[in-house]
Amino acid sequence: MKRNFLIAIMLLLVTGVVRADEGMWLPFRIKSDVIAQMHQLGFLLDADDIYSSDKPSFNDAVVGLGTEGRPFSHFCTGGLVSDKGLFITNHHCGYGFIQKHSTMQNDYLTDGFWAYDHSQELTNIGLTASIMRRMEDVTEIILEGVTENLSHDVRDSIIKLNILAVEKEAIEGTHYLAKVNPFYNGTEYYLSVYEIFNDVRLVGAPPSAIGKFGGDTDNWVWPRHTGDFAMFRIYAGPDNKPAAYSPDNKPYSPDKFFEINGNSVAENDFTFIMGYPGTTQEYLPSAAIELQKNIQNPIRIQLREMRIETMKRHMEQSQEVRIKYSSKVAGVANAWKKWIGEIQGLDRFDVIYKKQELEKEFENFAASNPKYNEIISDYNTIYSQIIAIAPYQEYYFEGAYQVEIIRFISAFSALAKAEKTVSFEQQENMISRVRSFYKDYYLPIDKIVFEKLMTEFSSNVPIEYQPEQFTKLENRFKNDFKAMSDWLFESSLFTDSTKLITFIDGYTIKKAKTIHKDPLYQLYSGLVDAYNMLLAPKFKSLYQELPPIHKLYMQGLREMQHDKTFFPDANSTFRIAFGKVQGYNPKDAIKYHWRTTIDGIIQKNNPEIYDYDVPKKLLELYANKDFGSYSDATGEVPVCFSATNHTTGGNSGSPVLDANGRLVGLNFDRAWEGVMSDLYYNPEICRNISIDIRYALFIVDKYAGAQNLIDEMSIIK
Ligand code: ARG
Ligand code: GLU
Repeated sequence: MKRNFLIAIMLLLVTGVVRADEGMWLPFRIKSDVIAQMHQLGFLLDADDIYSSDKPSFNDAVVGLGTEGRPFSHFCTGGLVSDKGLFITNHHCGYGFIQKHSTMQNDYLTDGFWAYDHSQELTNIGLTASIMRRMEDVTEIILEGVTENLSHDVRDSIIKLNILAVEKEAIEGTHYLAKVNPFYNGTEYYLSVYEIFNDVRLVGAPPSAIGKFGGDTDNWVWPRHTGDFAMFRIYAGPDNKPAAYSPDNKPYSPDKFFEINGNSVAENDFTFIMGYPGTTQEYLPSAAIELQKNIQNPIRIQLREMRIETMKRHMEQSQEVRIKYSSKVAGVANAWKKWIGEIQGLDRFDVIYKKQELEKEFENFAASNPKYNEIISDYNTIYSQIIAIAPYQEYYFEGAYQVEIIRFISAFSALAKAEKTVSFEQQENMISRVRSFYKDYYLPIDKIVFEKLMTEFSSNVPIEYQPEQFTKLENRFKNDFKAMSDWLFESSLFTDSTKLITFIDGYTIKKAKTIHKDPLYQLYSGLVDAYNMLLAPKFKSLYQELPPIHKLYMQGLREMQHDKTFFPDANSTFRIAFGKVQGYNPKDAIKYHWRTTIDGIIQKNNPEIYDYDVPKKLLELYANKDFGSYSDATGEVPVCFSATNHTTGGNSGSPVLDANGRLVGLNFDRAWEGVMSDLYYNPEICRNISIDIRYALFIVDKYAGAQNLIDEMSIIK
């Protein structure tokens, strides 16, 4: 026993298999997985300070942001910082909500928003805040009745039923919600139990010139100077439990909130991050990386470029268009830029080759483990078939379906197909959908986007995979896509909100004819039918072969590398990552410092460039060195820092905590050279980027004068 242990330690030292920085761990399992390493790196508390199902611990202070109807798909994270339900997250996480509250008169995007008392806080319809209360391994129960020789369908339906039963039992007699997720490619299943709040109000947001400083130019890039934070408050019913919005609701009183470290972090300080990373695919085979790197990413990048260019050009010309499209373009540009960086990182670190080497090793291992024998060749066969048709899917999903009006029309298929009367509520519902779509719609942009995307669609999707309706249009307009869009947008009912609302008002099924005859509706339904009939079955039959192979590969890898502690891929469940505050060397002979300061903001200041136009008030504070208690020993106000925590999308707004579990920052991004970390993590180069909490406090206090919020938090000096 002892000898084995020593050998294991030696192996660790020699192969370095467990790297301190890589991994998104499960808080409920850190006791056995990684707490020893965390302590080695400097963590001063215990595993049950981080997670415990029976005493208040940090898991009770972390908020997963979701939307009504999809509360478990956490798009961002936040951290509670007061006993009155106040939490802090990123500006870009609240961006869509800040945008919805913004008008030409109250342009909170430009000017920021601050509530100086509770009555000024703004309700956000559809925003949910979940707190993870309990997590446990339920693999055995979920796999009850599942035997080797079952068909996949039978197996899946047994698992589904078991999941439903576990989820139901877990919350019996409580107001909680439960979700069972697969981990390690479906070899294990864990249950998460959440308390989910749905009255969440906006408390404060800096102007975009602070919260989004550097804009898309600096996005995914270090060194960074973005004040990416915003504040919200959870409200609860009189019993402190979740309640639908009501003016009578009270600020929620949490079981636990984070104290704030009012001092500086230093290089090599231990940090950890708790939150909801969305998706990683660290265990994919080389063929899958090829698909993403060589096919999907390049096509998506090219198609998104067309949309971004069109939106930005119009936004520059009008404040109204800018307000309408700011949130949309940020979303489109964000993934676009990440994919570019991802390709570069995958190339630079030769990831396909490295994966192929691992696969060779695996095949050797499989030679004496026959059940793993076919895996790599199966992978290669399936992925090569997928690769052959994958481009067409991209021209549908990133192409045609990204025309806003086409997506919008999809909401009308229910009306068009209704067989009974359409109730008054349904009509009202549709009318409010129309209004909210048109609030942020600018037709000239969409028309140009249509022309560009459909031109690409036409030249890249072979005729046999195109809808007939589209081919007819191409012939009719002799491939003049401008003329085609002029006619379609001119003759459709859906491009005129007033006519459309009148049409829905008093809708009876007799009116369905009009929808079916509408040329844009015809194109929309042609696209959907063509994809569903011609391509979807091919993808379905290929993709459904993958899960059992992924599962077996994962199982085999864990056997082959039995001395390594594997972390499961991110899947929007609650995780912890840990590492150190550190800079990196992006290129030969260049070394990046681990932090930035307010001086860098001033250096970037340029009123001519929207992304770098520093607000006057901030310039004044700087000129007067009016930094309050937020500068450090060198007299500088810190702005951002980089560290080695393994994070991904969804980790935005995650509290970044020090060795004592005090808040030192908020995670908001990753550094350019390492964004391939969703597929391949390299500790030399992968860095997460956080805003230093003191910069956020400086803005709240000195810029916004929101002393009420400073007083509410517990800042430890
Ligand atoms: N890259 C960060 C993330 O993935 C920030 C995105 C928001 N900022 C922007 N300029 N679009 O979400
Ligand atoms: N900005 C990302 C988010 O919204 C975090 C950056 C990343 O992908 O790591 O979650």
